[in-house]
Amino acid sequence: MHTHILPKDIPDFAKKFGYEGFIRLHHHREGWARMMQGDKFFREIHENCWDPKVRIEEYARFNTQVQVVCTIPVMFSYWAQPQDGLEISRFLNDHIAEVVAQYPKNYVGLGTLPMQDVELAIQELERLKTECHMPGIQIGSNINNINLGDEKLFPVFEACEKLDMAILVHPWEMMGQQHMGKYWLPWLVGMPAETARAIASLIFSGVMEKLPKLRFCFAHAGGSFIPTIGRLEHGFHCRPDLVAIDNPVNPREYLGKFWVDSATHDPELLEYILKKAGSKKVCLGTDYPFPLGDLEIGTFIEQMNLEPAVIEDMFHQSTLDWLKLDKKQFV
Ligand code: CO
Repeated sequence: MHTHILPKDIPDFAKKFGYEGFIRLHHHREGWARMMQGDKFFREIHENCWDPKVRIEEYARFNTQVQVVCTIPVMFSYWAQPQDGLEISRFLNDHIAEVVAQYPKNYVGLGTLPMQDVELAIQELERLKTECHMPGIQIGSNINNINLGDEKLFPVFEACEKLDMAILVHPWEMMGQQHMGKYWLPWLVGMPAETARAIASLIFSGVMEKLPKLRFCFAHAGGSFIPTIGRLEHGFHCRPDLVAIDNPVNPREYLGKFWVDSATHDPELLEYILKKAGSKKVCLGTDYPFPLGDLEIGTFIEQMNLEPAVIEDMFHQSTLDWLKLDKKQFV
């Protein structure tokens, strides 16, 4: 789980909607494209970002058959006009649904929603379920700086629980990124903090408590949330007047209730995550095809000398449980 995909060609949304900020793809040579945001270069991508066959071959080299795909967070476009956000979401979701329909044994899709408008988000969520047959969605770690625990967003989570849709929370629009342009800090420091912000907000606000059947999964092993659980718990006990105002339950109680991916790049950290969350809640996640991802898909895990049952959980069972899928559909 946790890989990113894009259509090879993206409409010129800036031209269509009459304002800038949308991603365009400039295919400047065979197999390579520049993602451009207006005139600004965002990222160079390779055909493994859009070609489903190339991706299947690259995965096969690491004995991996199935990829859970979702869009690249820069495509969320939560800042856009709601109707435009809906149109972009539908375009991206239809593309992912097509890839899955074409290669059902190799792909599972997660949709994206125009989270800037709760009604439109729920409308698209219903379409994802009934028309696109997707088992879940991917959302950002904050929505235009509104935290996920904010009551404005609650109806979307309620609808996800009702429709039995799993949720991947991916860090994006990293806090403080305007103050840390150098050294790739928004990715290296901001992303883990963003994910912790999302988990803490969903716990302390009571969303996880009120909607216990929701199946959340958090990218990059939950960022800095699990490694700092001692601090979070201590803060909960020593300043309940600040922390425990909306939910009286100790944050530690939620370890093992949500899923995380394995993208730690560090066997000792993964061991710790396994200890805290349990192998049933840790999924093989790569962040493929981007350089910060685990591009030697799971190799470091195979070298860790773990029990076969733990490996089995991480390599497929936890993801199947999270998405409520049956292994048989991929055989
Ligand atoms: Co990612």
